Order: sequence, then C-alpha cells, then structure tokens
Amino acid sequence: MRVLVVGGGGREHALAWAIARSPRCEALFCAPGNAGTAALGENLAISDGDIEGLVRAALERRVDLVVVGPEAPLASGLVDALQDAGVRAFGPTAAAARIESSKWFAKEVMTAAGAPQGGGELFESARAAHKWIEMLGTDALPVVKADGLAAGKGVVVPATIDEAHAAIEELIGISGRLVLEDRLGGREISAMAIVAGGVVSPLPLSCDYKRIGEGDSGRNTGGMGVYSPPGFVADAAGLFRAIHEPVVAEMAARGAPFAGCLYGGVMVEGDAARVFEFNCRFGDPEAQALLPLLDGDLLAALAGESSEPLAFRQEASVAVVMASGGYPGSYATGARISGLDDVDDDVVVFHAGTALDEEGAVVTAGGRVLAVAATASSIAEARERAYANVARIHFEGAYWRRDIALRELSG
Ligand code: GLY
Repeated sequence: MRVLVVGGGGREHALAWAIARSPRCEALFCAPGNAGTAALGENLAISDGDIEGLVRAALERRVDLVVVGPEAPLASGLVDALQDAGVRAFGPTAAAARIESSKWFAKEVMTAAGAPQGGGELFESARAAHKWIEMLGTDALPVVKADGLAAGKGVVVPATIDEAHAAIEELIGISGRLVLEDRLGGREISAMAIVAGGVVSPLPLSCDYKRIGEGDSGRNTGGMGVYSPPGFVADAAGLFRAIHEPVVAEMAARGAPFAGCLYGGVMVEGDAARVFEFNCRFGDPEAQALLPLLDGDLLAALAGESSEPLAFRQEASVAVVMASGGYPGSYATGARISGLDDVDDDVVVFHAGTALDEEGAVVTAGGRVLAVAATASSIAEARERAYANVARIHFEGAYWRRDIALRELSG
C-alpha cells in the first residue's frame, strides 16, 4: 500500500513510524513532515492546509491511503476532496469532523446517543451569555467554549465571574456562538478509538499534561507529556461501550458516519466517566506514547482491512516532550540537536518541530521539538527510562517538565 501521512508534528511522526512497520506499507510520503519522517519516507513540501495540492500529490504518487493527522484540514474538507478524487482516506469528512469543530453539535450527538456528559447551554449572543453567568453566580461558574475550531485557544475555565465575562467577550468572535458548560469534577483522561471498516478499536487510555509548568501551572500548550495507563479507571472497555460505540452509531444514523480516530476527552470521578469534548483525530502527544505499545498492524486498522480490534501490549508508557525555551510564547529556532543516536534501542524519539539544515543536521524548527517515549512493565520504570534518555539529548534552550506521570505514582 502506498501511504501519505498529512501533517508535520510528533503525532504524524508516530503515525508514520507505526505505518512504516506494517508489512502492507510499500511507500510512505509525509506532507509536510519533519526531520523524523524524512528518515522513514519522502517528505513533500505541501502544507497540511493545501487541499488541492494534497489531492494532486496523492493522485500523482498513486497513493492508496491518505492518513490525516491534524483537525484543521479535516474540518476544511480534505477527506471529502480526496474521496471525490477517488482516493481512500483515514479521517472524518467535514460533516463528521463537526464532532470536534462544533462543541454544540457534539453535545447534541451525545444527548441523542445517551453518552454521559455534563450539562450545557448554547448562546448566540454575548448579552445572553453574560446574563446566564450572572444568574449562575460565582459558585457555579461554567466553562466557556467557542463553538468552533480555535487552535487550542477556544476554551476558558474561569476562576472568577470577571474572567467568565472576559472569556465571553474574547470567544464570541470565533464563530458567533458559545457553549457554557457545567464544570466536571474528577481526573481527565484521553480515550481514543480507531473507527474504520465498521470496527471501533480502542487504544489504551492515557493522561496528557497540557500546561507548560510543573504542578500544572502556567499557560496551556499542545501537550507536554503523556503516560498510560491511568490506574484510576476500573472499566476501560465499558467506557468505550458507553461513549464511543453509541456516538459512532448516532453519527451514522444522522448521515454523517464517523471514520477516523474518535478521541474523547473524559473526566473520571469514581465510577462515573463523562465526556467534556471530542476530537476527530489522534491526540498529540498521546499518539507518541501509545503507538510504541502496538502489537498489531496499524495500517491494516486504518485502512479498515482488519475485522479485529487492534492489539496493544499491556504495558506502561511515558512520553516526555522536549520544547524550545519560551514555548508556548515566542522561541528561537535553528538550534542543532545532539544526542539523538545515544538513546536506548527500545526508546523512541518522535520529532515534532525539527528540520534538516543545509548540512543535513537536525535542528529545532518549532515550539514542541521532540517526544521521548519509553515503555516498560510499570509506569515508574517507563518514566525513569524516558527521563534517562531525555537527559542524553541536547539543544540550546531545551525545556521539559520534570513531573510527567508523577501524579499517578503519588496516588
Ligand atoms: N493532547 C491534546 C490534544 O491532542 O488535543
């Protein structure tokens, strides 16, 4: 099979790495890719937003399957355009990608499917939302969400009523619609399932660290590290039966069948698991932590050519993200990265913001630069091995959180 992976982050390197291990993979292209994907196949200088260019490249290179990493091209209709051109794709159509791009659509689907979630209200004017906040008062401040894609900046969890009002003013401009949602208690997990060929195939559960600073302080990022599995979820299989399966059935019933990775952001409190958002693609850096646990053929699953759920080793995994100093604010690029060949054979370093300079050396080219992923029989061991290998990699200004997976170990 000739495969094109769309995107250039760590998630896409992890997908390309796992696809390249499949006996079905004959040729691999990444657009635009990074220095890590360049070592696995051919990088194409096409941005993930260039729908026409991606369709043309897939046709010219006789690609059998396009695997789309990021949400923006999915919401913009890349899969629809590929299908119109007769090219098979892994990822939802624009209509099905609304499960991520419209928070309200996701709530309507969950309500119809009977999937557990928090309460919420839709507002089409800032004035009505401000009134609602005043009515709820300080003790029941809701989460404020833009009803549209906002590159990770569309959700505010206000600490005060003034912050809630400010969030309404800030977010109403994104799509003219807001969802004010009940705050859910508990601990957050990422619950992802590959949906293809009529099979809902769960990945191991994981926990993402979204804030830049240790102790979950500072600004939100794309994700600074992940561990798997969370020990506080008693019935992972039951969670997918209660959430993903009915939602997939409901999407099909609505004429917007979902194919792709259905990623539920879920709060777990005791035995209760409630969805606070859906994404329509693999998590980043969740993919970097989970794909090294693969014990099956990812490409067969993505192509819908497997009738069985994908198998994963029942082990622990920890991925630590190394970022450029200053991220998620401004940061320098072009710093040479050393030590990439010094990591243990069974530890995987996934590239995100990297490029090759004119001498062929790997240099930094983004905020999140690398994810170092280690698997082991326990989270403690996986964590120790991930950090031991992070310490062997160097670039100027490198920053990483020291506390990935620590809260799982401290209970
Ligand atoms: N790690 C969070 C996300 O991919 O949205």
